[in-house]
Amino acid sequence: MLESIFGKKIDFNELRKDFTVLNRTINDKPIIYFDNACMSLRPKQVLKVMNEYYNKFPGCAGRSNHTISEEVNKAVEKARESIAKFFHAKPEAVVFTKNCTEAINLVANAFPFENGDVVLTTDKEHNSNLIPWLRLQKKWLIKHDVINSEPKNIFSTDELIKKLNQYKGKIKLVSVVYTSNLDGVSNPVKDIIRICHKHKVKVLLDCSQSALHHEINIKKLDADFIAVSSHKMLGPNGVGALISTKENLEMLDQFLVGGETVQDSSYDDFVVEKIPERFEAGLQNYPGIIGFGEAIKYLDKIGFKNIHEQLIKLNSVATAGLSEIKNVKILGPINASKRSGIISFVIKGKKVHEVSLLLNNMHNIMVRSGAHCVHSWFNKIENKESVFKDGTVRASFGFYNTIEEVEIFVKAVKEISEL
Ligand code: ALA
Repeated sequence: MLESIFGKKIDFNELRKDFTVLNRTINDKPIIYFDNACMSLRPKQVLKVMNEYYNKFPGCAGRSNHTISEEVNKAVEKARESIAKFFHAKPEAVVFTKNCTEAINLVANAFPFENGDVVLTTDKEHNSNLIPWLRLQKKWLIKHDVINSEPKNIFSTDELIKKLNQYKGKIKLVSVVYTSNLDGVSNPVKDIIRICHKHKVKVLLDCSQSALHHEINIKKLDADFIAVSSHKMLGPNGVGALISTKENLEMLDQFLVGGETVQDSSYDDFVVEKIPERFEAGLQNYPGIIGFGEAIKYLDKIGFKNIHEQLIKLNSVATAGLSEIKNVKILGPINASKRSGIISFVIKGKKVHEVSLLLNNMHNIMVRSGAHCVHSWFNKIENKESVFKDGTVRASFGFYNTIEEVEIFVKAVKEISEL
């Protein structure tokens, strides 16, 4: 039982019952799911509303005027409202996308860039927040540059200011990850936004790893664009959102176009639909959107602070345990509270994919290994004598994980290190 600073008691063991998959056993042993940075599990409440869609009102929104279609409309708009409220945005400023990646691609392709404009990202971006900009650079539409981290691999505000001054008015957008999927470290996004806005530069935040356990209040942060994926927030796959303001969305061109993105069309022209529909082309993932709305409601009931505290608690046990194992090296700060629910590590002398396979095969412990789609960062350190140059093993916790599971994991890593 965790008593938060708000006095709200959350029994995380009780919540485990909502995640049916946690009852699964493989070879008579329970599964230990530590791949939450890739994808969180879904509570039965989310699955229930998605089934309801297919069983009771499996129609499409925004087109027909029959009863079932009206029910879909209502459910989708209710989900949009829940999501908007969660991020302190207006419902019309919530655009549904396929995932966080598509939300970033939408901004990349629809932002009114002019030739010679510059976009900055950090040196720790997932491919989702790197490739869209590199592709624009290849087409000579923008120049992309990187804000290099400090030697300890944390965000450098000095480097950001240096670049803003170096490019003098050419930088139009800074697109940064809030919490890194590599080492769990969060960037000082409030400071980044304040500095960028002083230079009249817009900011896009990739919040895919942070939305579960950080308050993401678009108003307080003063962010211009926020990109999230439902599948990292207890929601279904195949749905995400771009959250913004009316003014910022009005500034964007369309990206994907087709049905529902226009009010009218002739053989020569078309009249653009209002926001947010103008960005939501074609038939949408209605059960996904409805499930996403339900996931947000579930998260909201627990509270991001409680989730954050629980992740740190689990990570502190993991960090203390792994730190004692000879040959284990943890990526990032040794203080677990700086890495939220992520612990990325290597066992010196062992291949990272071998370690993850052994964890899976011997103990049903499911982690991810490799470059975690941040190849660029690993390529940067390739020539250095870094123990991390071939990737890491990453365990990422969910609030439904337990201390007992973490202890089994620590024991298993020790066992593998001694093989
Ligand atoms: N970004 C996801 C991860 O880190 C896919 O696993």
